[in-house]
Amino acid sequence: DADELLQPRAPVVTIMGHVDHGKTSLLDALRKTNVVSGEAGGITQHIGAYQVVSPLGGKITFIDTPGHAAFTAMRARGAKVTDLVVLVVAANDSVMPQTIEAINHAKAAKVPMIVAINKIDLPDARPEKVKTDLLQYEVQVESLGGDVLEIELSAKTGQNLDKLLELIQLQSELLDLKANPDRLAEGTVIEAKLDRGRGPVATVLIQRGTLHTGDIVVAGSEWGRVRALLSDKGTQLADAGPSTPVEVLGFNGTPEAGDRVAVVENEARAREITDYRSHQKREKQAARVGA
Ligand code: GTP
Ligand code: NA
Ligand code: MG
Repeated sequence: DADELLQPRAPVVTIMGHVDHGKTSLLDALRKTNVVSGEAGGITQHIGAYQVVSPLGGKITFIDTPGHAAFTAMRARGAKVTDLVVLVVAANDSVMPQTIEAINHAKAAKVPMIVAINKIDLPDARPEKVKTDLLQYEVQVESLGGDVLEIELSAKTGQNLDKLLELIQLQSELLDLKANPDRLAEGTVIEAKLDRGRGPVATVLIQRGTLHTGDIVVAGSEWGRVRALLSDKGTQLADAGPSTPVEVLGFNGTPEAGDRVAVVENEARAREITDYRSHQKREKQAARVGA
């Protein structure tokens, strides 16, 4: 797209880190900060991704899936979904094998990292040890003279969660993230399921363009006409622009996490694309069985 068509978009953030270092707790706590500043009722449903507003006023999209699985699935399909990784390291446990794995994922994908030193409320928290341990993996935080932003926080007490959101916004402003909202939508399936009442439901991260109710949409080997779009707060939307996570209803079958999503001009085109992909999929399966 030409530069003049590009408009600022929210950063898309994935939280990664070792088992039990507090990824889920942090995602849950951050989601609650949104409820405080958000709409009445505050009933949030789990849709695999959500948006919050930072204290500085910018929107931030969090992908709520196990970071490692998401990275692996999306890398396998060549899709870059994440702009920023929050690396969670428990202050009482420091750097562990999956911390190192997460650092490697972020570096390989050239995605900047913010280090969140979690569980700072614990009496045996040793944040300084975390910082020096990270040096071994070429992660040098700002307080040690490096350029990786870090924050000591507690997902349990809520201490410094606002600061983390501010850092994410500041870091993302440096990235100058943009997309053209005025084109056919493209995105990635974050998760998908077959709902008994509603049929196939896909949580889609819109990455370029704007998705509208009524659009013909293809995801992997499935397609459908968008019957309804629901926000992470369960409200119905007429459309969804770049960096917005939405639940998409109307697929004829259930797509897979990591599938690329694209709007096409008509049903005939959607059938053509998905027939071809289904055929390819069957051939691959047959080859595997035959091997
Ligand atoms: P996996 O998904 O299993 O990899 O774990 P996780 O990284 O999502 O960690 P989770 O959020 O499940 O937290 C693990 C444990 O640490 C739970 O018992 C949490 O209550 C606890 N925990 C998380 N954050 C904090 C914190 O800031 N302080 C304290 N004291 N405990 C925490
Ligand atoms: Na856990
Ligand atoms: Mg978890």
